[in-house]
Amino acid sequence: MADKVALITGAARGIGLATAKTLLAEGWLVALLDRDADELPKAMADLGQAASGFVYDVSDPDAVNAALPDVLNRFGRLDALVNNAGVADFGPIAETDFARWRRVMETNLDGVFLMSQAAIPALKETKGTLVNIASISGLRASTLRVAYGTSKAAVIQLTKQQAAELGEFGIRANCVCPGPVRTKLAMAVHTQDIIDAYHDAIPLNRYGSEQEIAEVIAFLCSDKASYVTGQVIASDGGFESTGVGLPALRN
Ligand SMILES: NC(=O)c1ccc[n+]([C@@H]2O[C@H](COP(=O)([O-])OP(=O)(O)OC[C@H]3O[C@@H](n4cnc5c(N)ncnc54)[C@H](O)[C@@H]3O)[C@@H](O)[C@H]2O)c1
Repeated sequence: MADKVALITGAARGIGLATAKTLLAEGWLVALLDRDADELPKAMADLGQAASGFVYDVSDPDAVNAALPDVLNRFGRLDALVNNAGVADFGPIAETDFARWRRVMETNLDGVFLMSQAAIPALKETKGTLVNIASISGLRASTLRVAYGTSKAAVIQLTKQQAAELGEFGIRANCVCPGPVRTKLAMAVHTQDIIDAYHDAIPLNRYGSEQEIAEVIAFLCSDKASYVTGQVIASDGGFESTGVGLPALRN
């Protein structure tokens, strides 16, 4: 176990950083990748020798092509790629111009495609695993999520494509759909009304924590999930499973 290597994108904060800490605690070597050159060193400060930071932008094909050799040069192998980097944008269809649409797609969808493609040769060698982070917004539509929700729905389908095509090489691909978590990403777009509505609509009646999402990701990275591929797991307090009337019936 001691020499297994995970690469986590968007790892300078939030769910990505919680996942890095969880895998480190489980004995993995962890490459933390983020485009935020200010935040990443701060996040790395108390992570110890088993962690290394890499400043790259997953939406830039040239950066991705440089990132994988850099990580492999440092660690020598790759057993898990967690495609977690994401951006949020809530806006009506009419106000989502093409530049805004592309800004979301280039990280949330292009980034997952590019990073995965670049990692596949290394993952073939280890029979490694891909874990892509989508969202409940990719499972259920809502207003203002035309770009974000569509990008995440595409990540769900991309995961299934990866599982279908890469299984013969022993590579597993799974998708985690977090419900709302109070990270910087979510708090930038969640008003108090949205927070209240989520509490109402979620059977567990609360937001999740970064750690609760990280535990699911860590399970999918682990050998405990060795026969699990092509799956979409919502870690969402039950949001995906419910229909109308929950708040009324709860009362
Ligand atoms: N927080 C939530 O409520 C929630 C819910 C569902 C899904 N998610 C998904 O979980 C993932 C992590 O979200 P979070 O809430 O921890 O967000 P966050 O904003 O706290 O962290 C995201 C990190 O990704 C980095 N990043 C963004 N674009 C990048 C790029 N192109 N290249 C490299 N790094 C990049 C950012 O610099 C940041 O450090 C995202 O994919 C997000 O869509 C979050």
